[in-house]
Amino acid sequence: MALVTTKEMFEKSMKEGFAIGAFNINNMEIIQGIVDAAAEANSPVILQTSASAIKYARINYLMKMVQAAVEEHPNIPIVIHLDHGPDFETAKMCIDNGFTSVMIDGSKYDFEKNVALTRRTGCDSLAIAIGTSHGAYKFKGEAKLRFDILKEIKERIPNTPIVLHGASTVIPELVEMCNKFGGDIPGAKGVPDEILHEASISGVSKINVDTDLRLAMTAGIRKEFAENPNVFDPRKYLGEARELIKETVKHKMVDVFGSANKA
Ligand code: G3H
Ligand code: 13P
Repeated sequence: MALVTTKEMFEKSMKEGFAIGAFNINNMEIIQGIVDAAAEANSPVILQTSASAIKYARINYLMKMVQAAVEEHPNIPIVIHLDHGPDFETAKMCIDNGFTSVMIDGSKYDFEKNVALTRRTGCDSLAIAIGTSHGAYKFKGEAKLRFDILKEIKERIPNTPIVLHGASTVIPELVEMCNKFGGDIPGAKGVPDEILHEASISGVSKINVDTDLRLAMTAGIRKEFAENPNVFDPRKYLGEARELIKETVKHKMVDVFGSANKA
């Protein structure tokens, strides 16, 4: 199977009531961890990359690795998506390089300019704000999303796929692991699995996850360094990190988003 578009993927997710995980990629181990999880879970998957991740990894390397993932897993629908596209030029560069989906993010502008910029596009999906936020510190008190707003949006635009940004769980076990092995990430808090599951059966089609992958990668590397201080082969600690990323992504697909066996 070649790369597919988010438009095709969302048709199925909207019809069958599940969400597709969109995972941020920066390097080979992250890509492999994600697509190996998708293959084991028999799940569609969105690989996404920000402008700063493209700057870090370089678009040619990223696309070649994504193509390799597609060749290795021909039965898994895979999208490569630009996350938070800052402008027209970046979106065009990504499309010219084979991306099958792009986002334009006008949130840095005032409301009128954001609407004008976005309406041009004829957008296929819409990111909404119902209480999530990027990063590892999402809630001071109890984690809560405004499902009443989601319901109203779905009633007004029932045929538009809905996207949830900032949707990492900030998995407590991973935070604990980072802290146990020398990290310092106090008070981190994300969106619990039960709430994300509710979102996935309430009309959210795409759930964005980056922070949980960062935590998995860091936890795996820190643990390996702490437990085996004599190790200096990058394949050892990056291999641990890749495995933890795979487990993290598979759990989301199978137990939370409902996308397992929907490939
Ligand atoms: O929403 C942003 C993503 O987590 C990517 O972050 O721009 O640091 O790559 P980044
Ligand atoms: P998290 O920081 O919650 O992982 O969100 C990532 C995201 O929304 C990328 O667009």
